[in-house]
Amino acid sequence: MAVLKKFRPRWWLNGRQSPQTESQANIALVPPINARYDLRPLTISQIDECWRLDQRCFVDGEAYSRDTFEYLLTAPESVSYRVVTQNSAMAGFVIGLLEPDHTGHITTVGIAPEHRRRRLASFLMERIEDGFRRRDVRIVRLEVRASNVSAQKLYLSLGYSVTQRLPKYYSNGGDGLLMIKSIG
Ligand SMILES: CC(C)(COP(=O)(O)OP(=O)(O)OC[C@H]1O[C@@H](n2cnc3c(N)ncnc32)[C@H](O)[C@@H]1OP(=O)(O)O)[C@@H](O)C(=O)NCCC(=O)NCCS
Repeated sequence: MAVLKKFRPRWWLNGRQSPQTESQANIALVPPINARYDLRPLTISQIDECWRLDQRCFVDGEAYSRDTFEYLLTAPESVSYRVVTQNSAMAGFVIGLLEPDHTGHITTVGIAPEHRRRRLASFLMERIEDGFRRRDVRIVRLEVRASNVSAQKLYLSLGYSVTQRLPKYYSNGGDGLLMIKSIG
């Protein structure tokens, strides 16, 4: 998950409701193992659903603000997808940005806890790589918390390599790792 420092939370000032608390949010039924999912584009129309899901995925205080989602989902350089259940509920999402020099930046990926270990993140990562490739991207980069071993395993399994340690990259002082993959 990339740190996007220029967007500050603003929902309190706007009088918006805060996202669900972790205990409220994590009460969800585990779907059957043969549940079917569909791939759809992720657009500004899904901002609130995506923001709420992000709060459930990143319980370490690093979840993005609603403003950050607004930026990410309206930027012309955004390449973003979601997976949905048969009821059209969002089970996971991936957000990326096209950057100069044919680089794609995956800023965040998250799967709802009850839908994990079903290859949904792998599927979304492959779809966003396809989306980047269609836009002439040759290198994909992402940042991951050094302590987030499960996400690192996911990225390593997809062919990403750690190229740099980013000391104190996260706001709580945690280090990040820069990971890169060539998709040329
Ligand atoms: C990390 C995350 C996106 C993985 O989503 P997922 O859909 O469960 O991942 P997949 O099913 O595609 O997993 C593919 C492989 O990644 C590795 N992996 C994924 N989750 C893992 C875990 N909890 N522990 C160990 N390895 C894991 C495994 O090698 C797995 O293959 P396997 O199931 O055959 O062993 C999900 O756990 C999540 O949303 N976490 C919170 C948000 C987050 O950390 N996002 C990444 C920020 S950089």
